[in-house]
Amino acid sequence: MTKILICEKIDPICPEMFRAAGFEVEVSPGLEPERLRAAVAGCEGLVVRSAVRVTAELMDAADRLKVVGRAGAGLDTIDVEAARARGITVLNTPGQNAGAVAELVLGLMLALTRRLVPAHVALAAGRWEKNRLSGFGFELGGKTLGLVGFGAVGRRVAALVRGFDMEILVHDPLVADGEVTAAGARPSGLTELLAAADFLSLHLPLTSGTRNLISREVIFSGLKPGAVLINCARGGLVDEAALAEALAEGRLAGAGLDVFEKEPPSADNPLLALENVVVTPHLGASTAESQVNVARSIAGQMIEHLK
Ligand SMILES: NC(=O)c1ccc[n+]([C@@H]2O[C@H](COP(=O)([O-])OP(=O)(O)OC[C@H]3O[C@@H](n4cnc5c(N)ncnc54)[C@H](O)[C@@H]3O)[C@@H](O)[C@H]2O)c1
Repeated sequence: MTKILICEKIDPICPEMFRAAGFEVEVSPGLEPERLRAAVAGCEGLVVRSAVRVTAELMDAADRLKVVGRAGAGLDTIDVEAARARGITVLNTPGQNAGAVAELVLGLMLALTRRLVPAHVALAAGRWEKNRLSGFGFELGGKTLGLVGFGAVGRRVAALVRGFDMEILVHDPLVADGEVTAAGARPSGLTELLAAADFLSLHLPLTSGTRNLISREVIFSGLKPGAVLINCARGGLVDEAALAEALAEGRLAGAGLDVFEKEPPSADNPLLALENVVVTPHLGASTAESQVNVARSIAGQMIEHLK
């Protein structure tokens, strides 16, 4: 019987679909590396999310592995080259969590422009800091939003902000200008976008070519002073130390971060101590709807592939 290992927490629809298709399923989240290698031996399919790294070593422990399915968008946790070399297919679920990520982007933007987190923390502690906090508010309306990456999430963000009356600039070398303008945005070179954006939101994959895209030099010399950076894509896209310095000295107005170079970030990461930063623990895809969407999508694709 075809066997599937699901080694991270996932909506129950995923194992149900595999069982209904006649597969044997083991659901074992949180295995130590050695036990994971033992569990994957003999499996034809492996389902992962964000935590388990699918390395060449793990694949070598899986002598019958035919397909790795990532219930999520990016593939940076999977050694895709090593999979290809071993004849293992890698599947993922692009777009299935785009709505969830895009809504978090909007939430972070609004939390930053109105200082919602410090306002809540102060009032919950009994401090009515109206005078101190009212000096910080600003509006999205009339501002420029720069989107780097215009795939499923970037497009959804553009659709959502339309009601805020923002100008939208898009940089995505793989998307035709006509698609950008049809979405009510303006195609842009990267340098021009970085210099013009009041809000910069990243929606591109982390690859060797995009790592450190928002480098120290970009942060201090390329971005518009007073800009707000939103990163719900991947931590490695941004130089975190430089970002923290720029935020601390007020060169940038704020940052909303769902992802970090190292997750979880160390307790002494300076970004965690700044009042003009809102952080979330990689929650972009964590809505009830998107959990079901990715679980159903990856099971459906893997069943089709294995049958
Ligand atoms: N925070 C989360 O929980 C969460 C959830 C989903 C996705 N993500 C991240 O968000 C990213 C975007 O997700 P998506 O579903 O829109 O992916 P997608 O594949 O639909 O879109 C990515 C877009 O980035 C573009 N791109 C690639 N290289 C680029 C470059 N150098 N400059 C500009 N654009 C470039 C591609 O052409 C593509 O249009 C993913 O790669 C993933 O890392 C995070």
